[in-house]
Amino acid sequence: MSATTHGIKHVTSPLARQTLLDSDLTRPVAGGRPIKLLPWLQVVKIGGRSILDRGAEAILPIVDELRRLLPEHRLLILTGAGIRARHLYSVGLDLGLPVGSLAPLAASEAGQNGHILASLLAPEGVSYVEHPTIANQLAIHLSAARAVVGSAFPPYHHHEFPGSRIPPHRADTGAFLLADALGAAGLTIVEDVDGVYTADPTGPDGAKAQLLRETSFADLAKHQGTLPFDRALLEVMATARHIARVQVVNGLVPGRLTAALRGEHVGTIIRTGA
Ligand SMILES: Nc1ncnc2c1ncn2[C@@H]1O[C@H](COP(=O)(O)OP(=O)(O)OP(=O)(O)O)[C@@H](O)[C@H]1O
Ligand SMILES: [Mg+2]
Repeated sequence: MSATTHGIKHVTSPLARQTLLDSDLTRPVAGGRPIKLLPWLQVVKIGGRSILDRGAEAILPIVDELRRLLPEHRLLILTGAGIRARHLYSVGLDLGLPVGSLAPLAASEAGQNGHILASLLAPEGVSYVEHPTIANQLAIHLSAARAVVGSAFPPYHHHEFPGSRIPPHRADTGAFLLADALGAAGLTIVEDVDGVYTADPTGPDGAKAQLLRETSFADLAKHQGTLPFDRALLEVMATARHIARVQVVNGLVPGRLTAALRGEHVGTIIRTGA
């Protein structure tokens, strides 16, 4: 069915006769809460630099812990990029490559870490899946296996925002965007420190750094110093629809990830805007 208004042919729909730029007009239709696509899913982001770059010593215990979690949870395991991406940024920046060229290169490093992790979990039926599969076929993959592994980087790639020379949307932001879009039960970020501190616990002021047991995206946005995740994560937390809290845990301490997935408070809980 169609109608003509001011010479524009419309298909009958509640949004047909208005600009999408006026939120007062779109709110009655677009203001509702989206459904949760995979409400039973637990998303786990494994640090590239903090865990995977450490090799067998850090990877094998976390693989063992993930393996033992499979009967209890269905997991989307997402990996960060680690040190190879840092090297890539420095070479690329030296050559003057734009941020949109660096983003997909770094994302491919996160994918390589994912392939490594998936290979170790292959006997459990776990495989690495690419972004289009995560976007369209995650449900069927998680019906066949208890977990899949993917790259935590968001696919902004050549559409990466040009504000900074280093891609601002990296693994933590990507993991959060996915978990929130899927309406997952939770997101746990696995690092090599006990959580978020008032300052880098391994930096020069480390001795004075205090662990924040619970905090919010708004409080961390005011924090001047470094954080153990991308700053853009705080921006996407502000407008979250489903994920109300994220826990940052130490993956070098056996049992912390398991406890976090069981709902225990064992790291830093960050409240989002959801
Ligand atoms: N305020 C802070 N609280 C806790 N750790 C911090 C803080 N500031 C900096 N850090 C440091 O961040 C480190 C983790 O680095 P980073 O987040 O880059 O690793 P990663 O998550 O493994 O990275 P990626 O997955 O992107 O490769 C910690 O080992 C810690 O030393
Ligand atoms: Mg990190």
